[in-house]
Amino acid sequence: MQTLIKNGRIITACDDYQADILIENETISCIGKNLDVKGCKIIDAKDKYIFPGGIDVHTHLDMPFGGTASSDDFESGTKAAAFGGTTTIVDFAIQFKGKSLIESLDEWHKKADKRACIDYSFHLIVTDLGLSQVKEMRQIIDREGVTSFKMFMAYPGVFYVDDGSIYRAMSLSSDTGALICMHAENGIVINEIINEHLKLGHTSPKYHAITRPVLAEAEGVNRAIAIAQMAKSPVYIVHLSCYEALKKVQEARNEGVMVYAETCPQYLFLDDEYYNQENFEGAKYVLTPPLRPKCHQDKLWHGLNYGDLQVISTDHCPFCFKEQKELGLNDFSKIPNGGPGVENRMNLIYNGGVVAGRISLNQFVQLTSTNPAKIFGMFPQKGTIAVGSDADLIIFDPTLKHTISAKTHHMKVDYNCYEGKEVTGCVETVLSRGEVIIQNGSYQGVIGRGNFIKRKVMTKYSMSQAQLI
Ligand code: URP
Ligand code: ZN
Ligand code: ZN
Repeated sequence: MQTLIKNGRIITACDDYQADILIENETISCIGKNLDVKGCKIIDAKDKYIFPGGIDVHTHLDMPFGGTASSDDFESGTKAAAFGGTTTIVDFAIQFKGKSLIESLDEWHKKADKRACIDYSFHLIVTDLGLSQVKEMRQIIDREGVTSFKMFMAYPGVFYVDDGSIYRAMSLSSDTGALICMHAENGIVINEIINEHLKLGHTSPKYHAITRPVLAEAEGVNRAIAIAQMAKSPVYIVHLSCYEALKKVQEARNEGVMVYAETCPQYLFLDDEYYNQENFEGAKYVLTPPLRPKCHQDKLWHGLNYGDLQVISTDHCPFCFKEQKELGLNDFSKIPNGGPGVENRMNLIYNGGVVAGRISLNQFVQLTSTNPAKIFGMFPQKGTIAVGSDADLIIFDPTLKHTISAKTHHMKVDYNCYEGKEVTGCVETVLSRGEVIIQNGSYQGVIGRGNFIKRKVMTKYSMSQAQLI
């Protein structure tokens, strides 16, 4: 099976040129001017950009959390991702306390197998790290192709781990090249602040933000970096939301520490005023870390522009407003933490980044596809447009306008954080391993076509590549 995409403008993290792309089976076999191949399917991409498929390295599908479970499963969540131009996700498998890591990973394989519509991989959330789990971590890295782990300084009693466990995991990371992803917020202090406010009868959604101050995040980031330095390992900070935390990353990077960090669209486009919406609507934005005052947004864009933040992921963790967010009607601390976004990332970042003049077209590709692939061991199979790479491609119309709405989105959740926002530039056609999966506004693949991607560990080479950006 051959497909020829003609006349498109190919944008990678470093290139920008007009050429045709020939796809044979699942990979790109040739890129050149005026390619003429008989008998193949032709897609005309005149006046369109061709980007590598988006890679979202932070999603929570079918995740038990906050007394309920995230509303998108692997079928609905990956299909919605495809509509938004994302062709690979890295989701979080969870080791609940007392469970073996391998068993936990198997459980997540069962959730995704025969359901995922795009390619996927897993990070593994480690909540319990005894000697047997340390052994298992090595096996998982060597045999399972799962080369990154998430640990939490937040959510005591649920996912929280102590600093000793973090040090043990980071020492293993130093040994093996695996990467520790850190939810860096001081959850112990946050719980004290939450209790103080609940005692005063402060129960509405806005207290979610008030009880998780920027200093709790900055302290977590600082501690994560210090532990990484002691363990001689790199560290990846997830969902960084504020300037105070960014400054810690910048200082460390200036000292040559291998710290990487992502931010998410919600921290670039939404702010803490959203918590003041009436009728409990502020609960829609109860996600962690919380939305911050608007003044942080320019700082985050600066961090993206100058390479201190290397990735934009979504932290897609949807809960319906009705019945799920409502679990916290009388107590903000019981509102399930998380928000939807996997479908909107590419269009939002193109519109708010490229169209708004904040980042270049090449940076758009770096932040949404190439850097995630490099940092998480999928490059050059994923994250670029090159001969031999998977033909994961987006044909993008820069002139098309689209209004974001829960009425038309494909995520299984009853609201959209960006309801009514008009974006210029829109994903039109999506190919995943050479197969057209999104065309004319509909999903064209079969359910379960997505493959599990075994990832490599971060080599010194890929790390320095990521640092060059
Ligand atoms: O609010 C969030 N972010 N929910 C998902 C869990 C996490 O901390 O990433
Ligand atoms: Zn987190
Ligand atoms: Zn998350």
